[in-house]
Amino acid sequence: MPTLAEEVAQLKEERQAVLLAHNYQLPEVQDAADFVGDSLYLSRKAAETDRPVIVFAGVRFMAETAKILNPGKTVLLPDPKAGCALADSITAEELRRWKREHPGAAVVAYINTSADVKAESDYVCTSSNAARVVASIPEEREILFLPDMFLGDHVRRLTGRKMHLWVGDCPVHAKMRPEDVVAARREHPSAVVVAHPECGCSTAALPEVDKVLSTDGMVRFAETTRDPEVLVATEVGILHRMRRLNPGTKFLPISEGTICPYMKEVDLADVRDSLALGRFVVDVPPDIARRARGALERMIAS
Ligand code: 13P
Ligand code: SF4
Repeated sequence: MPTLAEEVAQLKEERQAVLLAHNYQLPEVQDAADFVGDSLYLSRKAAETDRPVIVFAGVRFMAETAKILNPGKTVLLPDPKAGCALADSITAEELRRWKREHPGAAVVAYINTSADVKAESDYVCTSSNAARVVASIPEEREILFLPDMFLGDHVRRLTGRKMHLWVGDCPVHAKMRPEDVVAARREHPSAVVVAHPECGCSTAALPEVDKVLSTDGMVRFAETTRDPEVLVATEVGILHRMRRLNPGTKFLPISEGTICPYMKEVDLADVRDSLALGRFVVDVPPDIARRARGALERMIAS
């Protein structure tokens, strides 16, 4: 009897598929993937693949982004329930209304948005390049940043730019509070603290946080650090990669309960079934895709 991992490997070859997995995916899904990374890295991999099928072990907005960037490919999301609460915090209609209140403003959308919202946006950014994208916008232009207010606030501090922020957040990250960081630091006084910019704690408790990084930024930090202990403020799925890359450092979560239920909808059996049955196909209406593509292409080129 082949193992699930062997079935996935064989089906990937039969279907000529590439399997992309986000850093928050279950360890066994990460281990089966061709590429593991953050939203920016995986968007680039999706855009450049010549395989006819892309299986996206992540959440819907990531699969939609892959489809927009590489429309000739079949993009599969192994579980249709893998959405994103942050992406759901703004609709295209709400954005249109906001734009009407600020005519001429540049709209910067975080990649964690639906394709319809991206189609209404001038720029798309990820946590890796948000500050760079905002800094590239002419000084005199008003900016609407959406939908994550904690990332927006972090970018505002880094760039010194005044921006209007949409009041949205990721409930998984927002529930990490300054007190959690302070308590973890007290228990591990010599530990370095790394936090994702979506965290509720990254702004309010900045003195406690040593580095604010995207998930790939954290992985790169894990590869090179010689610190004996690192406290990690993001979804716990990332610890698998960090620990494997650097067994000499102890990587500890700020809170064991920081689990994204959407990312965890996908397991290895879903990936196998997705490959075997060609499900669940992610499509983006051509008009929406056309309007979202320019901003996304600028993002992956940045
Ligand atoms: P990254 O782009 O840093 O991987 O973040 C994506 C995400 O959904 C964080 O919650
Ligand atoms: Fe969305 Fe938050 Fe899950 Fe990231 S961690 S996919 S922002 S709900």
